[in-house]
Amino acid sequence: METVEKEILTLVDEIGYDEITRLFGTLKGGKRLRAKLILEIAAEDKEAPKLGAIVELIHAASLLHDDVIDDATLRRGVASVNATEDSKTAIMLGDALYSKAYSSLVSFDEAVARTVSAAVTALSVGELMDVRMSEAFNADAERYMQMLYLKTAALIEASAKAAAQLTGKDAEAYALYGKNLGISFQIIDDILDIVSDEATLGKPALHDYEEGKCTLPYIYLYDALEGAERERLVASHKQKLSPEESAWIKAKMQEHKCIERSYALAQELSNKAIEAVSGDERLVGIIESMMKRSF
Ligand code: FPP
Ligand code: MG
Repeated sequence: METVEKEILTLVDEIGYDEITRLFGTLKGGKRLRAKLILEIAAEDKEAPKLGAIVELIHAASLLHDDVIDDATLRRGVASVNATEDSKTAIMLGDALYSKAYSSLVSFDEAVARTVSAAVTALSVGELMDVRMSEAFNADAERYMQMLYLKTAALIEASAKAAAQLTGKDAEAYALYGKNLGISFQIIDDILDIVSDEATLGKPALHDYEEGKCTLPYIYLYDALEGAERERLVASHKQKLSPEESAWIKAKMQEHKCIERSYALAQELSNKAIEAVSGDERLVGIIESMMKRSF
């Protein structure tokens, strides 16, 4: 992963403007899941660290824009760029990272470039779907899963697929691994938003529902509740939650096993991911640490 970090800094420096390098230096790196995946799958390819760096820059750009869209103030435990600087700066930094990643991507095989660039379109569609779906309570689990696939899993799927294409491995099998890992990853994220605290998460807890995001546990809770209780849940959608309301939601989720059900789905998808790559040991390790993570 050290080589990936070096490649990232090289690409950012190549943009050729100190202000970009300075602003990029204020970002926290994060888990680097996508680059790790590329290195594990295409370990023998000398271009793998560069591809990992490209995907991480795209991911970083998408988060810079997402924080503007979500009006977020915290990212990975530190103040987000839209908060420390302003939204315009966050958008421009995102644009610089994103376009640099693309100009570097075109030096790869066409199949690899196609895989990654198609995923970025999916990401953009997923983000808009997410915003639209947050406008009113969404009780449709299938619609939620479709959005989540596009917004989060598509780039993880593309990372695994592109790494396989780079090394002549079975692209479809690795794509399936990445897709299921990605969806599972986002479900765990949704669970952590409910069960974890701000200090561990690096962002406010129970924030999804306040932002209007009806994640899987909320959809399961909606299904389980009836009458006045269901109305109470819907009424608190997209509202600042009082400690009492948060406690009520958490208690009801516990009563109806909404977290357990969500976790079971994440586990099922993780198992499918492992099956797709016939138990490739290194990829199993990535799934296991993803399922056990606390932030
Ligand atoms: C985080 O979701 C957002 C994403 C994973 C994707 C954001 C995508 C875009 C803004 C479109 C693509 C743009 C570019 C420049 C490539 P979240 O808000 O649910 O998660 P969070 O809690 O981490 O903010
Ligand atoms: Mg966000």
